[in-house]
Amino acid sequence: MPEPFYITTPIYYVNDVPHIGHAYTTVAADAAARYRRMMGSEVFFLTGTDEHGQKVETSAAEQGVSPKALADRVVTRFQKLWEVLNISHDDFIRTTDARHQEAVQTLWRTVAEKGDIYLGEYEDWYCTPCETFLTALQLQEGTCPDCGREPEQLKEESYFFRMSRYEQRLLAHLEAHPEFIQPESRRNEILQFVRGGLKDLSISRTTFSWGIPVPGNDRHVIYVWFDALTNYLSALGYPSRTERFGAFWPADVHVIGKDILRFHAVYWPTFLMAAELPLPRQVFSHGWWTVDGEKMSKSKGNVVDPVEMVRRYGADPFRYFLLREVPFGLDGDFSEKAMVGRFNADLANDLGNVFSRVTAMLDKYCEGIVPRADTSGDLAVQAERAVQRVDEEMERLAFHKALQEIWGLINGINRYVDQKAPWALARETSRRAELDGAMASLMEALRVVTLLVSPFMPVTAEQAAAVLGLQEGWCSREGLRWGASLTGAEIAKAKPLFPRIDTAETPGREPKQPGAAAAKQTEQITLQEFNRLDLRTGVIREAEAVAKSERLLKLLVDLGEAGSRQVVAGIAEVYAPDDVIGKTVVVLCNLKPAKLMGIESQGMILAVEGENGLSLVGLDRPVLPGGKIH
Ligand code: MSP
Repeated sequence: MPEPFYITTPIYYVNDVPHIGHAYTTVAADAAARYRRMMGSEVFFLTGTDEHGQKVETSAAEQGVSPKALADRVVTRFQKLWEVLNISHDDFIRTTDARHQEAVQTLWRTVAEKGDIYLGEYEDWYCTPCETFLTALQLQEGTCPDCGREPEQLKEESYFFRMSRYEQRLLAHLEAHPEFIQPESRRNEILQFVRGGLKDLSISRTTFSWGIPVPGNDRHVIYVWFDALTNYLSALGYPSRTERFGAFWPADVHVIGKDILRFHAVYWPTFLMAAELPLPRQVFSHGWWTVDGEKMSKSKGNVVDPVEMVRRYGADPFRYFLLREVPFGLDGDFSEKAMVGRFNADLANDLGNVFSRVTAMLDKYCEGIVPRADTSGDLAVQAERAVQRVDEEMERLAFHKALQEIWGLINGINRYVDQKAPWALARETSRRAELDGAMASLMEALRVVTLLVSPFMPVTAEQAAAVLGLQEGWCSREGLRWGASLTGAEIAKAKPLFPRIDTAETPGREPKQPGAAAAKQTEQITLQEFNRLDLRTGVIREAEAVAKSERLLKLLVDLGEAGSRQVVAGIAEVYAPDDVIGKTVVVLCNLKPAKLMGIESQGMILAVEGENGLSLVGLDRPVLPGGKIH
């Protein structure tokens, strides 16, 4: 029976569109899942979206749509990104799925029946942007220790989970299972936190309604983390004891970012203890990306869009960069310069080059057919060692080290070519056997490299496998054995796997890389369809901030003969009211009116999300308001 392996990503909030941070967690989990599948495990790889909570409710209200409609829209952004990045998840869970709601309510009832939930009064602080409750002790000079913003003080009726009851059991578990929280430094943080004492946890809210109702009291909705964490059970069919549940629970590893470690390493295990369910084997917390040395934020306009990165460099190079650049567990910095540097050095020069070099020699000296020959020797030893070490590194999710080992083998192949000098052997007919041995060994090494890179760069590995003429089922544990053999195989002509990127080119070039084909063309429309849009020039005459919203400005737009319109635009993070008064903009006039934060918006101002953040679409010479755009 293949060993089961259950790996999860966090479920992503739908009040934000996907960025490099989301891509990172998911690509890492995907590489681990693909590796385990290759090694013969029966893998269940889960990702999904976290759709309840106050932030979603507020964002939806700002956009004048229902929370579910907002979730339905954003969820497709995530699903498309996973397609573009070739993520191989086995299931996608949404917290609005009926199966999930049932699981959460059952978990609640189970814990309540145990006597671990009671009604009390909640008197603390709540940081809305972070969806985190804070105690007085956690505040730093009255602000949230994570985001620095001022939390709200709350006093409301709330259900509490008796987390304090599980303090000693959790501590004992953490001490007995050093592998439970990784990396080590994070484990120490959590140990310290738990030793400081666990308080009971407020697990319901009455201040908003977008959530799963508390069983038996629907004035309360279930606190987002009690709801969200349960996704790891509901996707397996819990509360039914399905075959899936039996095979895969407890999870082998929850891959998460360091910001959400406490929820996974303290709250989650205590919920599970209360429900008498086994605990996951590991929670692995990775670091955070900054961008060009700065914290990523919408207001700075430096949010890295993974879809754009894939368009520029291809899915595989982007995946490779994320996992190679930074040790998994530590923080790292993203820059396109570093990305292009790695592309050219590691992918074009090393991996791509070794492929074209060796296959071109096979073509020249062996008519493109892998000779039958003895492949024992140096290269065999190196390859076997690399396979072994990659396995050890993948076991501890040390992706960057696994890649270093693979690149060690690639360098070994290049050195072997230089030592054996097949071009010199080819000149002496008496050395034919030696030449055949060298070429067969080199091809065997390329085959092993193809398998080893496949969890990281699945598209490239498929291409390489096609060149090598590998048969179905090539990507297996058995295939990693040296000598699994290409003897007699006819090698196809290899196109360069990674054509170099000219560093003088500016970002935004057309896709050149193999994976880039994944970025889809948008649907075509007819001129008549375009003409249905009533697009006109308008001049902003008045602008003011919308109370209680960081994003919205209320504008009065002059459309000349077509009159004036009130438009509510989500541009306040970038433009102050004074910045936009007098500006000529492009307005979509026949958009159905909608209410944003209770204010009617009678159109839409066009803007573009560029490299430097949001920018209003403008005109390159003065034009009177009301001009029709066609
Ligand atoms: N919905 C919760 C998770 C619930 S899991 C039961 C959540 N969602 S999130 O969308 O805000 O973030 C999801 C993941 O993205 C986290 O693992 C987080 O660490 C990661 N990242 C967000 N920004 C990041 C970076 N700048 N760098 C690396 N990862 C970061 O939290």
